[in-house]
Amino acid sequence: MDSATRHMLDLARRGLLRGAAGLTALAVMAPPRASAQAPGNPFTLGVASGDPWPDSVVLWTRLAPAPLAPGGGMAAAPVTLRFEVAADARMTRLLQWGDVVARPEEAHSVHLVLNGLDPARTYYYRFRLGPHASPIGRTRTAPAPGTDAEIRFLNAGCQHYEHGHFTAWRHAAAEEVDFVFHYGDYIYEYAGRQPGERGWGPVVRTHHGGETLTLEDYRARYAQYRSDPDLAAAHAAHPFIVSYDDHEVENNWASLISQRDGGARFPVATPPEAFALRAAAAFQAWYEHMPVRPSARPNGTEIIAYRHLRFGQRLDLRVLDTRRFRDDQPCGDGVVAPCAAVTRPEAQMLGEAQEAWLREGLRAAQGRWQVLAQQVFFAPRRFPRGTLSMDSWDGYPAARQRVLDMFSERQGGVILTGDVHRAWANEVGGLAEFVGTSISSEGDGSDMQPTAPEIMAANPHLKFNSNRRGYTLHIAERERLHAIYRAVPFVQQPDAPRLTAGHFVTELNGGGVQRA
Ligand SMILES: [Fe+2]
Repeated sequence: MDSATRHMLDLARRGLLRGAAGLTALAVMAPPRASAQAPGNPFTLGVASGDPWPDSVVLWTRLAPAPLAPGGGMAAAPVTLRFEVAADARMTRLLQWGDVVARPEEAHSVHLVLNGLDPARTYYYRFRLGPHASPIGRTRTAPAPGTDAEIRFLNAGCQHYEHGHFTAWRHAAAEEVDFVFHYGDYIYEYAGRQPGERGWGPVVRTHHGGETLTLEDYRARYAQYRSDPDLAAAHAAHPFIVSYDDHEVENNWASLISQRDGGARFPVATPPEAFALRAAAAFQAWYEHMPVRPSARPNGTEIIAYRHLRFGQRLDLRVLDTRRFRDDQPCGDGVVAPCAAVTRPEAQMLGEAQEAWLREGLRAAQGRWQVLAQQVFFAPRRFPRGTLSMDSWDGYPAARQRVLDMFSERQGGVILTGDVHRAWANEVGGLAEFVGTSISSEGDGSDMQPTAPEIMAANPHLKFNSNRRGYTLHIAERERLHAIYRAVPFVQQPDAPRLTAGHFVTELNGGGVQRA
């Protein structure tokens, strides 16, 4: 029995697996089936919804009676399943229903674009196949374009399965929000480690398989993560707006350049043509498992995941892709002393097309708050010995300045960030940057990162640090935007309570970030 199975048995014993999410989690423990003759419950990965528009949302599921088996335990044939959309949580007042086809080419995933919906309204949905019904999901549409109502949302990401339990997702499921922004590191690509085995971070449960390289590797990794009942509960509770960071493909990838560069750390380089095969597999598996619109479906290594979502007059959310179009990290990557290449004026974090799209979008934007939902640390952050993180915007300062210039005549600029597994609140060029911590990556943590006082002394525009795991709750009021840093005191054991590690606000007319 692996540790994940042990964990689920343990939860089940203590009555912590509740309702449909619990049942789907238990189904995961069935040994992988060799054939799909009698595949059992196909809804082990739950349901999800995403990319809410005022009249439309995406509903997702994936048929996988044996999540870790090749093909999820499904035969290589299309399957027609039923969907139902209702006004109530008991699914008694049905509003829409019909058939949708899950195809083996896309791992029997479903991306159903539901149209004809009312704005700012909660809907419930499920799928049915034969005698099986999926868990019931809840979703919510965006407000109508003309309205100016409060928007509440979460920022979360970095969910290393081995490093800790997804307790923060259980708490996130209970929050009252319009949507969840997931900035990425939805999976980690690394090979499984046993508890006590050396490596990065603690091991409370074990990744299935080796490092992910092929499409089936990535599919199984997503399936393992999606089998987590807390993550499943969060997806069933809220629409997600998802992005990817590096670990959906490979640590610190940049465009189609692998981190394995033939240098001192990785003496055997991965050439771009080999890395492209891996990236294409990673993108396809990401698409198959995320509740994104068909516009984000990859074509080989081509993928457009940056996009704009509008929440009435209150808020424009622009999801950025800081991975696929960036130039390679300068100075050999890592946290190093800056070399001359850092200040290259042609530095590209977004690539020319995305940068132009952002500039044009911001020029015409109507929303009160202009939120850039992205991945890597935006504010300058000089470490005490003068080093910089070349993977963050510090490796691309010319590109950062071009983004800041887009806000020179606009107020309400807010940047959402992840990646560093610590919460921060920063001021940068008149904008507020709220960095979310990790759901589980790097284990329990502590109240404050030990080096934070030194870092903050060297960077007085960094105003807050927390080294607890969790997520950020944001509330966009008319004049103030809140960042409430939800935290769990531990993740290496299950069932941590929810705490608040900090509460900051930024004013619409500027003035940086202040403690609320
Ligand atoms: Fe991460």
